[in-house]
Amino acid sequence: MKSLIDILDLSTKEIDELMACAEDIISNPDKYADKCRRRKLASLFFEPSTRTRLSFEAAMIELGGSVLGFSEAQSSSAAKGESVADTARTVSAFADILVIRHPLEGAPLVAAMNVPIPVINAGDGGHNHPTQTLADLLTIQAEKGRMNHMTIGLCGDLKFGRTVHSLLQAMSRYDGIEFILISPDELKVPEHVKTDILEAGTCSYTETSNLMEVMPELDVLYMTRVQRERFISEADYVRLKDTYILTPDKLKAAKSDLTIMHPLPRVNEIPTIIDSDPRACYFKQVRYGKYIRMALILKLLEVD
Ligand code: NCD
Repeated sequence: MKSLIDILDLSTKEIDELMACAEDIISNPDKYADKCRRRKLASLFFEPSTRTRLSFEAAMIELGGSVLGFSEAQSSSAAKGESVADTARTVSAFADILVIRHPLEGAPLVAAMNVPIPVINAGDGGHNHPTQTLADLLTIQAEKGRMNHMTIGLCGDLKFGRTVHSLLQAMSRYDGIEFILISPDELKVPEHVKTDILEAGTCSYTETSNLMEVMPELDVLYMTRVQRERFISEADYVRLKDTYILTPDKLKAAKSDLTIMHPLPRVNEIPTIIDSDPRACYFKQVRYGKYIRMALILKLLEVD
């Protein structure tokens, strides 16, 4: 039995297979309509979510399975003081696969250590978000036609943004990747991510606070929201939240085949006027998210 807690739980070969499976699902949805009949997915969301939770639920429904779960901690026994381990153990009696989002880093791992069914990390605090990364990778593959030799700018809250950490982990394993980390000083990528991931691999990286200076070099621009809920001081959040706002004018300096991504939800960092730019891919990313989660469910449930 395998779980997905960290994107490195999957080899690049397994990621390639998941992407190929997702592409096959997109082309032949009927083939998959019954694959998870009588299987149940439990989604335990202790933190707000729109895309991740609903795309998992839609994914399971499209595979012919069913879903159960809760979307806020207050409606579960966590409100009475139950531990993550006990909640997970309980739900594993009712479901075949468990998806969990939690504000505490490591909570999905604790769940996985306590249940006999596969567990998927749907975001743990400011740590990791491997299934968003799978959606991101499928988007990059679809838009660029390759996973190597490109310059990826990640912009915004690189400190608390868990999707950033997982994406860095995943993309650093491909050849010829250059990361440009664009953030204010206070929101730089944590030191441990730099030493464990960026300095350990074959990728290269530079840090800057100036988006415009690097815009012409980028093949992918991954924008992020400043993660308000992880700030200790509201005043710091207010000071930093609008550091980067993409505008049509700024995009004039970008490559014509730039891929603009964002895990969503966006706040002010991408105004809606950008949505009609053919380079804007964040709503495509949402769609890919459902298909890659379908592929992941099939893999973890060992369905043919
Ligand atoms: C992200 C998350 O939850 O980390 N959202 C998502 O799952 N697509 C990004 C964010 O909340 O900013």
